[in-house]
Amino acid sequence: IKKIGLFTSGSDAPGMNAAIRAVIRTAIFNGVEVAGILRGFEGMINDDIQPLTTKSASNIIQRGGTILKASRSEEFKTVEGRNKAYATLQKHGIDALIALGGNGTIKGVKEFTEEHPDIKAIAVPCTIDNDLRGSDFTVGYDTAINTVIEAVDKIRETAESHDRLFIVEVMGADSGMIALRTGIGVGAESVMVPETKSNLEALYDRLDRGVKLRDKTSRIIMVAEGHEPGSAFQIGDALKERYPSYDIRVSILGHIQRGGKPTCMDRVLASLLGVAAVEALIKGRTGEMVGLIHNDITFTQFSQSVKHHLDVNAEFTRIVEMLSL
Ligand code: F6P
Repeated sequence: IKKIGLFTSGSDAPGMNAAIRAVIRTAIFNGVEVAGILRGFEGMINDDIQPLTTKSASNIIQRGGTILKASRSEEFKTVEGRNKAYATLQKHGIDALIALGGNGTIKGVKEFTEEHPDIKAIAVPCTIDNDLRGSDFTVGYDTAINTVIEAVDKIRETAESHDRLFIVEVMGADSGMIALRTGIGVGAESVMVPETKSNLEALYDRLDRGVKLRDKTSRIIMVAEGHEPGSAFQIGDALKERYPSYDIRVSILGHIQRGGKPTCMDRVLASLLGVAAVEALIKGRTGEMVGLIHNDITFTQFSQSVKHHLDVNAEFTRIVEMLSL
């Protein structure tokens, strides 16, 4: 390969800049050029491309967001859009892609490389949702869960002062990975995720049990945004009806979860995967997502990595229940 087109697409994730840095430096170290494609697939369609040098990678490892900007592209979902993108790559002499992103990004690059197999591509899993097969963790997840526990610890303090029950909604799209892990981390009374059939009756049981065992003064219920049936507000309304004496508040953490300085774990993961992505392209690999499983670099076909309805860790659910007595 001669020239890698590097882009970040979909939602941003803390650690993307660390991955960008790793890709740029590894490519240049190996005599391969790197071009930065701005705003993901949009930049590919609209010819928004700039050369990247070792200097472009200076002083970015500690920054959240992405210096290459990110967006979701409707046009790239069409054959015409993808053909325009291909023409741009040809114009710039780009013969390989490294895509940093989540599900939508990998689906897009999969379709593109199936139509244009002369362009080689490797994806690096970057999403706070941690919902891809082929990596124990995705870049951004660790920072996001640390942001969540910092916020919920603060909520716990005011909940305690006012004897309140808080329902805290966290991100994750249709995955409960953020809610489950942070639920353990903050000592939540209950965690409601899309993957398990958590119903209100079970929640009432748990809350009643908690009151019987000891007089709890604060309660935190973590709800993943994809939880069905019942959003955080609907659960709040149901609890107000069932427990009229409880003082209940709902808190939606929102996009705070996507920002912030990446943790050391995310910086290191991004660096390992960024290096591996470039080395994989040089060795001739294509059509795969690079990941880390049990500390080993692994490669998963695009089509497998986006089958993301992962089984939630049953042990996690058990632990939340037992420890929240
Ligand atoms: O995929 C990351 C994510 O933050 C999800 O957790 C969330 O559902 C979605 O992106 C939000 O997207 P937007 O920034 O477009 O509102």
